Amino acid sequence: MADEPSLTRWSFQFGRKKVAAATAQTSSESQQNGQTTAVASNGNGHVKNLSDMAVYEQYRNQDRSSTLHSNGVLPNGINEIPQKPLIPAFDSSETRALAESLCRDIIRGSPNVKWESIKGLENAKRLLKEAVVMPIKYPKYFTGLLSPWKGILLFGPPGTGKTMLAKAVATECKTTFFNISASSVVSKWRGDSEKLIKVLFELARHHAPSTIFLDEIDAIISQRGEASSEHEASRRLKTELLIQMDGLTRTKELVFVLAATNLPWELDAAMLRRLEKRILVPLPEPEARRTMFEELLPSQPDEDMLPYDLLVERTEGFSGSDIRLLCKEAAMQPLRRLMTLLEDREEIVPDDELPKVGPLRSEDIETALKNTRPSAHLHAHRHEKFNSDYGSQILQ
Ligand SMILES: Nc1ncnc2c1ncn2[C@@H]1O[C@H](COP(=O)(O)OP(=O)(O)OP(=O)(O)O)[C@@H](O)[C@H]1O
Ligand SMILES: [Mg+2]
Repeated sequence: MADEPSLTRWSFQFGRKKVAAATAQTSSESQQNGQTTAVASNGNGHVKNLSDMAVYEQYRNQDRSSTLHSNGVLPNGINEIPQKPLIPAFDSSETRALAESLCRDIIRGSPNVKWESIKGLENAKRLLKEAVVMPIKYPKYFTGLLSPWKGILLFGPPGTGKTMLAKAVATECKTTFFNISASSVVSKWRGDSEKLIKVLFELARHHAPSTIFLDEIDAIISQRGEASSEHEASRRLKTELLIQMDGLTRTKELVFVLAATNLPWELDAAMLRRLEKRILVPLPEPEARRTMFEELLPSQPDEDMLPYDLLVERTEGFSGSDIRLLCKEAAMQPLRRLMTLLEDREEIVPDDELPKVGPLRSEDIETALKNTRPSAHLHAHRHEKFNSDYGSQILQ
């Protein structure tokens, strides 16, 4: 987890300059809201057109004039249209403060993970599209009995792409995306955990359609500390989470809970019942491994083909992140050879005179294969078993 690129988080302006007077809140929020959206579009380095706009923004803007810019500012620069405040009206300053800190966990703009960059996992992608993407794009079909699944669990061995899939959902659907990890829950709201959950769901409904992503959910709900008070706090958090998730099935706002874990058997029956759709994210198949190798270690046109068959054959049981490590190890070998040459030189070679890194040789691949071990395969059969007991399958 530590080597993961961190998700884009927007620190909202109001978090730093707190608005003191409650009466001034609405107007200043709408202004700041406008500012923040503008920053979001700049920060992503692209101008928002309609298809690029977050779904919730489109939904917000749907009955506004088409001449309106995406940041809510009219072409003449006057910010006249009242915007939905970032934070709904809370009665106490305490809950308001919680909501503000939660807003910092909202991801705006996209984490930029495309479906195509996730290799293999066709079933998982299909199930996710059916469960989240389609209901947001075409809500008309998903009513009554077909109302969307509100709780989805991604489970599988570590390093197989669960977090990537969630980011792809965020990129694809452009819903308001709340990225909640065990560390943020524990660090920020130790004593106030159940209030935090309440505020979180309220915010999510306020910004609907939204996705609440609970990464490493086993850690969030099974935090056990030495002190009994910690234990108590975690129990209250879990109970509140169950209550709020129950509430989702009754509200008409689109709020999804997307959870990920590599220890699904640690979730109790009550939680599993609410995570209605359970999707296995397995170790990569040979075909997916081959695509990963071809992408990470591309063959150079003037060199021999790399032994992809050998790589695929010898990496049974490797996870996606093991494969990445293996490729890194192999790609390091030519650089190591070059380093030895450079070390012999007395003076530092200037940047523009640095020699080119040589090609990858078959023996480099052999060395990398010898030095890299799979890390996630030991529990793979348990995940398969959990999948056949509780998982959602694709019906052809
Ligand atoms: N299917 C895949 N396609 C491409 N890259 C992958 C795939 N699976 C894993 N990876 C690589 O492994 C890294 C880790 O993936 P990710 O963080 O999504 O794993 P995870 O399933 O969330 O693991 P954990 O359970 O430990 O949180 C990714 O950054 C990516 O480089
Ligand atoms: Mg993860």
